Amino acid sequence: MAKKIAKKAKAKAAAKRTKVKAKAKPAKRPALKLAKAPRVSSKPWGKDGKALDGIKILDFTHVQSGPTCTQLLAWFGADVIKVERPGQGDITRGQLQDVPNADSLYFTMLNHNKRSITLDSKSKQGMTVLERLVKTCDVLVENFAPGALDRMGLTWERIHSWNPRMVVASVKGFGPGPYEECKVYENVAQCAGGSASTTGFHDGLPLVTGAQIGDSGTGLHLALGIVCALMQRNRTGRGQRVLCAMQDGVLNLCRVKLRDQQRLAHGPLKEYTQFGQGIPFGEAVPRAGNDSGGGQPGVILKCKGWETDPNAYIYFITQAPVWEKICELIGEPGWKTHPDYAKPPARLPRLTEIFGRIERWTMTKTKFEVMNECNALDIPVGPILSMKEIAEEPSLRATGTVVEVDHPTRGKYLSVGNPIKLTDSITEVKRSPLLGEHTDEILSRVLKFTSREIADIKASGATGEAPKAQAAE
Ligand code: COA
Repeated sequence: MAKKIAKKAKAKAAAKRTKVKAKAKPAKRPALKLAKAPRVSSKPWGKDGKALDGIKILDFTHVQSGPTCTQLLAWFGADVIKVERPGQGDITRGQLQDVPNADSLYFTMLNHNKRSITLDSKSKQGMTVLERLVKTCDVLVENFAPGALDRMGLTWERIHSWNPRMVVASVKGFGPGPYEECKVYENVAQCAGGSASTTGFHDGLPLVTGAQIGDSGTGLHLALGIVCALMQRNRTGRGQRVLCAMQDGVLNLCRVKLRDQQRLAHGPLKEYTQFGQGIPFGEAVPRAGNDSGGGQPGVILKCKGWETDPNAYIYFITQAPVWEKICELIGEPGWKTHPDYAKPPARLPRLTEIFGRIERWTMTKTKFEVMNECNALDIPVGPILSMKEIAEEPSLRATGTVVEVDHPTRGKYLSVGNPIKLTDSITEVKRSPLLGEHTDEILSRVLKFTSREIADIKASGATGEAPKAQAAE
């Protein structure tokens, strides 16, 4: 009986469910909102303009950090208008000059693809021109000392009221805090950002690196910030401020050392050579010489010719997955199974001995022979290439990473091209502008001043003397 009742109840419930189902209207699918996108280009790759076509940059940068940023934007197609002080221009034009009366390589290699206008921003007429530049451009980029832009009268509030769409991007040495008023150059940033304290040998002085991580590194960070601000502007319609502090940029590039600082609280850093040498660790991350920055131990080893060639060295990484191949290559097959060498933890206290043995092998070969033999076995190594070797390397010329540029007053020179390759925005490296070379065309064609207004601006001395470009070409 109980079974019968249960069966009835089940059937009733099933019927109810079917009724509900029949009654329920089909769920309405929310309409798919498709973003309005431009048509897909049918032009060949690289023939449909550049990534930043149409973007105008008021380039108020000087020296290295800011110019690195605006050069990248120019390479991607932005119209970069470099505003320079009449008569002198960017101070680097005259620094480290190798050819008399020609812009230095310091300047030319950081200011490709830009136009130059000379303007005394502290004069009344100069400010009239600047106001129009602010109203015409999309981005203002500057790396003056803290407060200099405000002292010129170009406060964020004023710029924003003239052109609410403008992005204002700055490099400063430090972010807000006790040091924000300080002037900063490359090596100051390397020291304050944690690079110097972690570079060098543990028993030697802190060292700065040859890579300009403070200047060019921060310029790279700033370029990304600007492109993001432009993307956000597409949605919000308004500009914003972008700040990259050089200390922050260097620290960002040194983040593995902040990683190690925290690991240190849990014991010695076993992959550091100093561990195997029995040298105790202090409270802060030590300088690690040429030890690898990652979890795979690596060092610089001598190669054939090291006695006379300062760059006859190779960086050798004992990557765990290829350890057995390394043992075969250097003639130590027994290490593949020996308990002191077979596994990475066993090798850590013996790195000096192990790399010493590998070096006995690398010293019998040139760095390129080591490279060829190791690469064939997937063993990661890096030859120490001199700047001469890099300058002459055909593959870097082929990719445009090293380019030859012609210049009206200095002739042909080599430069580093755009290291970021886009398939549909191909970089053509054009020579840097002469001081004030484009003053006239910017006043008339970009800013649309009448010839009478231009005559008045020039007569006021705001653009300085007649541009040198007219004499140069
Ligand atoms: N017309 C008139 N005056 C101009 C001008 C123009 N076109 N362009 C610049 N100036 C003025 C500025 O207004 C400033 O005047 P002020 O000090 O009276 O306000 C003056 O020139 C000098 O600018 P400043 O940036 O202080 O140059 P500097 O040579 O004394 O300092 C740095 C150079 C690099 C140390 C400093 O600019 C700085 O710390 N920048 C930020 C960090 C940075 O980028 N450092 C790395 C550089 S690679």
